[in-house]
Amino acid sequence: MSEHFQPETIALHAGIHRSQFNEHSEALYLTSSFVFDSAAQAAARFSGSEPGNIYSRFTNPTVTAFEERLAALEGAEVCVATSSGMSAILACVMGLLSAGDHIVASRSLFGSTVNLFNNILKKFNIDTTFVSATDVASWQMAIQPNTKLFFLETPSNPLTEISDIAALSTVAHQAGIWLAVDNCFCTPALQKPLELGADIVIHSATKYLEGQGRVLGGAVLGKKDLLMDGGVFGFLRTAGPTLSAFNAWVIMKGIETLKVRMEAHSAHASEIARWLESQPNVTRVFYPGLSSHSQYELAKKQQKSGGGIVAFEVKGGKEAAWRVIDSTKLISITANLGDAKSTLTHPATTTHARITQEARDAAGISDGLLRIAVGLEAVQDLQNDLAHGLK
Ligand SMILES: Cc1ncc(COP(=O)(O)O)c(C=O)c1O
Repeated sequence: MSEHFQPETIALHAGIHRSQFNEHSEALYLTSSFVFDSAAQAAARFSGSEPGNIYSRFTNPTVTAFEERLAALEGAEVCVATSSGMSAILACVMGLLSAGDHIVASRSLFGSTVNLFNNILKKFNIDTTFVSATDVASWQMAIQPNTKLFFLETPSNPLTEISDIAALSTVAHQAGIWLAVDNCFCTPALQKPLELGADIVIHSATKYLEGQGRVLGGAVLGKKDLLMDGGVFGFLRTAGPTLSAFNAWVIMKGIETLKVRMEAHSAHASEIARWLESQPNVTRVFYPGLSSHSQYELAKKQQKSGGGIVAFEVKGGKEAAWRVIDSTKLISITANLGDAKSTLTHPATTTHARITQEARDAAGISDGLLRIAVGLEAVQDLQNDLAHGLK
């Protein structure tokens, strides 16, 4: 799509390739394979001498439409769609790294990402050193001769720590290292890591891109030579954690309303965060849009607004945190985020339960910590619901 269009226009129009029926809404191609005109054409497609679809583990027109739309929004040359956010991270690592390589990663990552790096990749002789999300010098110090990748989330899950993408990309590039940023919390509506110097953007499309908690999906975005020729697409095509056409279609339709949703999530979250700060039983609130946030200035520079996630600590540890959860009637007790419906989680016993206590302590995930993914309900109704358990 032409570059002069604004993001909200791109979100509606990028990736459209109408079929012979000239449908207005994007077509959903539910097919496992594609028919060839002849044996010669089949051979040409398989050899790559003729472009075109072969089999939906490789490419599918609906998935391609989603990829083009997200790539246009992130300002990426290419997007490789995956079956989930975790398979996006896996594909990125399996495609770009080999046994004996090393990763430097933020200590403040989604629990399954920590698990993947710490336990699964370790089995294949890929080691990870975890460092502070916010201390740029510690990333520099952790570099080894075999370091290939810096990996971070910003804002982080669940504490909303902000990593300085531009500063870390400089450190990475001086050492010939790729910087990958999980942009799940902000989406391109609020933050564009590639413009700030990142090489790779990761998405759990399950979250805000989709926006209504219906399907799983993921994506890896970046330069064509890195992702297509460098092995990420090749890994997916062979190993198979590709995005289904149905899920691509649902997520693509979700993306159409991304900008207005992200603005509303941010506005609601910011009101909830300020209200939580005034509650006597809340000891701390973590939200990048609050001036009390330790990286408030950096967040203002890097993101358009604070996003929809607020973490807060209550007096009384796990028991008090569980009381808040169990007293809600409206907010859903579920581990997902990025849904139009608000969700509330106790990270220490759910999303981050499988990492060690030591790793949780190092990441600042206390037993009294709660994470609310603020949805699109009326803020007053959300406050009333949280108030029951905060008395
Ligand atoms: C920041 C972040 N990255 C990645 C993931 C994994 O995404 P998925 O559940 O789509 O595999 C999550 C899931 O919660 C997440 O919060």
